[in-house]
Amino acid sequence: MSEILLQIDGREVKAEEGMTLLGAAQRAGIVIPTLCHYEKLESYGACRICTVEVETRGRTSLVAACLYPVEKNLVVRTRSEKVDKIRKMILELLLAHAPGAPELQDLARAYGAREARFDKESSFCILCGLCVRYCAEVKKKDAIAFVDRGTRREISFIPEIASQECWGCKECFPLCPTSYLQAAYFLTQGLAFPSASSEPASEE
Ligand code: SF4
Ligand code: FES
Repeated sequence: MSEILLQIDGREVKAEEGMTLLGAAQRAGIVIPTLCHYEKLESYGACRICTVEVETRGRTSLVAACLYPVEKNLVVRTRSEKVDKIRKMILELLLAHAPGAPELQDLARAYGAREARFDKESSFCILCGLCVRYCAEVKKKDAIAFVDRGTRREISFIPEIASQECWGCKECFPLCPTSYLQAAYFLTQGLAFPSASSEPASEE
């Protein structure tokens, strides 16, 4: 695999062909925020909080670091006025969905995002797809799926599969950036399997 040299935040960074900018930055110890990325899953590009500025052949553009492949001599800025502005706006939009999420609040503080900028439509899910993709790609169970489209899009456990698989798994819970998945699971559990919902919830 051939080595590629690029510049990230003024530092020369070595990467391998096929790596993403996020992978190269992480390997060099440079932090880029992410909300829909998990190393065991294919990149998805849903949240765009990993947006960075790249300069190549005299042109500057904003790209998702978790999707963009490394290129020789690329100049990357992980913080700039434009990058910070776009992250701030993304966070304000996401906070409208999940206002109480600690991970979002930490990022909001870092980027000066205000919680009340957009009308609240709290679903507590930011549609990052981590739970859905983890269940499909790693567990190969498809017990959770996206349902509906557009503004009505949400996640839903598939009761027939969830009743067999989820109780003993729950591996997707800690991946959820809004901490809502656990509550969503128990809600679904309670509705779909009323007798199971009275079981103690503290075996972990
Ligand atoms: S429930 Fe959590 S992990 Fe699943 S899509 Fe929504 S925010 Fe992402
Ligand atoms: S982490 Fe790159 S788009 Fe979400």
